[in-house]
Amino acid sequence: MTHYLHYLAAIVLLAMAGYALARHLAHDKNGINFTLSGIVRFGLLGILAVNGLVLVWCNLAGVILPPGFIIFLDISPIVLVMLLLGVTGFCWVTKRSWIVVRTVGAEER
Ligand code: HEM
Repeated sequence: MTHYLHYLAAIVLLAMAGYALARHLAHDKNGINFTLSGIVRFGLLGILAVNGLVLVWCNLAGVILPPGFIIFLDISPIVLVMLLLGVTGFCWVTKRSWIVVRTVGAEER
């Protein structure tokens, strides 16, 4: 059950990341810029997603990897999540935002 919830959340996360990437590539920023803490948090989420994709690949039948690397892959999401929790908690207490929205005049659009 936990696995299905995880995979469902992973699909939503990857879909949102794909959408954000498409808008970024289309230069459709709407004046949105990341703050430093936003970059750190999005960065951690990005590494988590890549880590998850590598885990999916290494769980496929026929993929043989060194045991040490598999242990590293298994432990890293837990470590990353602890880091993300710590950073998010810190940003919550110090009221740091993920993004800043700069309103752009019509002539600049
Ligand atoms: C915010 C994003 C994510 C978080 C917080 C997260 C967290 C975790 C955690 C804590 C584990 C358990 C590690 C262990 O059992 O030792 C895990 C495992 C796993 N994750 Fe994620 N993950 C994320 C995104 C993803 C994504 C995007 C995918 C797939 C595309 C994914 C696929 C997997 C897989 C396949 C496993 C191994 C499950 C198993 O073999 O039992 N994860 N993840």
